[in-house]
Amino acid sequence: MAAASGSAIGLGNIWGFPIKVASNGGGAFVFTYIILTFILAYPILMAELVIGRHAKADTVKSMVSISGPKSRGLGAMTGYWGMLTASLILSFYAIVAGWMIAHAGGSLVSLVGLTDSWFITESMSRSIIFCTLFFVLTIGIVASGVASGIEKWSTRLMPILILLIISLVIYIATLPGASAGWAVYLQPDFSKVTEPSLVLDALSQAFFSLSLGVGTMMVYGSYISKSENLPKLGATVACMDIGIAVLAGMLVIPAMYVAQHNGVVIYDEAGNLIESGRLIFNVLPSLFETMGAAGNIVSLLFFVLMSIAALTSSISMLEVPVAYANDSLGLSRKKAAWYVGIAILAFSVLIVFNMDLLFDGVVNFATQFSEPLIGILFCFFVGWVWKRDTLLGELKEGCPEMQESFFWKVWPAYVRFICPTAVLALLVRSFI
Ligand code: TRP
Repeated sequence: MAAASGSAIGLGNIWGFPIKVASNGGGAFVFTYIILTFILAYPILMAELVIGRHAKADTVKSMVSISGPKSRGLGAMTGYWGMLTASLILSFYAIVAGWMIAHAGGSLVSLVGLTDSWFITESMSRSIIFCTLFFVLTIGIVASGVASGIEKWSTRLMPILILLIISLVIYIATLPGASAGWAVYLQPDFSKVTEPSLVLDALSQAFFSLSLGVGTMMVYGSYISKSENLPKLGATVACMDIGIAVLAGMLVIPAMYVAQHNGVVIYDEAGNLIESGRLIFNVLPSLFETMGAAGNIVSLLFFVLMSIAALTSSISMLEVPVAYANDSLGLSRKKAAWYVGIAILAFSVLIVFNMDLLFDGVVNFATQFSEPLIGILFCFFVGWVWKRDTLLGELKEGCPEMQESFFWKVWPAYVRFICPTAVLALLVRSFI
């Protein structure tokens, strides 16, 4: 559980979610995102976890092992596509995580009285240096195979992060301008909830935030003990993930309006979010500045905790191709982690050099297109290909009364028909 929630909780919650809220009219997005997480993402999370715990292998081997003779090729392809998508996601994730480390570094140098401007202003050198640093940390952890130790450590830090965010939420509520943010956040405009672009953003956010559609949760499922009740574990992870995202929204959305009140330009004249990827870096530092001397310490704590949250997620992405290189190709874990990691770093550097051209494109291709489609394939395998008895047998581990449960009455048919059809329908509707 620690591992799966460490993977799920990351930049997606605190960096990604508020951006999507801010660019989709506030509460309407929050509402749609929560609904889609429960009705579409959670069932797919369960599909990944159950395949993973059963097969206990990398994603290609796992998919092949639940396939029949005819679906073998498709199973392997799903595994490869997931690996590629995990790598693409890591390539942009590490850039943003690097910005987090840079801001932590900036707070540190200000604390000792030096000037922090290089750390907190955008430049290619800054992005590349900190992205590389983030890769070294990620690769180092994956190479030494101590991922589970890190997870335990990070679950101890998680309460600190939550407490910090709650205190900041309370602090910001007292500043002028915040109430306008609360109004936008908490009052859904229900006429917007069916807008295709909002629904697509909510769907991809739900998948991204739960680390779905690449095989991360499959690999992590293989670490879960047979004595765990899987549906319950999955539900806990989903609820925690939503909880942290909603909390982060309570911080960033009011902070945005406070910043706007103080003259920071957030939306352009057409009402579109300016520099959306940098939203929290524009908004939060100006918030910390209002705190006087304590601001630097709060800022340091915040960005260090964010960097760690990003690290427990990035290791879960790198783990997907590394598990394959290790398990199926027979490379040592160390070699696998360094070779694959450096290859993905090279791609990140390419993105940094062509930020305007590549960044949004890679994000959208991976999160709006690949993740949902691979999710559909996972549903297809669990719903149509995998033998029902084996599936039930796996779910009964840790939950002997599974057969009589509500979960077993609904979920198998649900991932067979409703879930893939609904995801496909939403995708088609948004792209056409
Ligand atoms: N879910 C993580 C977050 O919210 C990111 C993440 C980790 C991820 N592993 C993934 C996203 C696999 C997609 C696929 O920050």
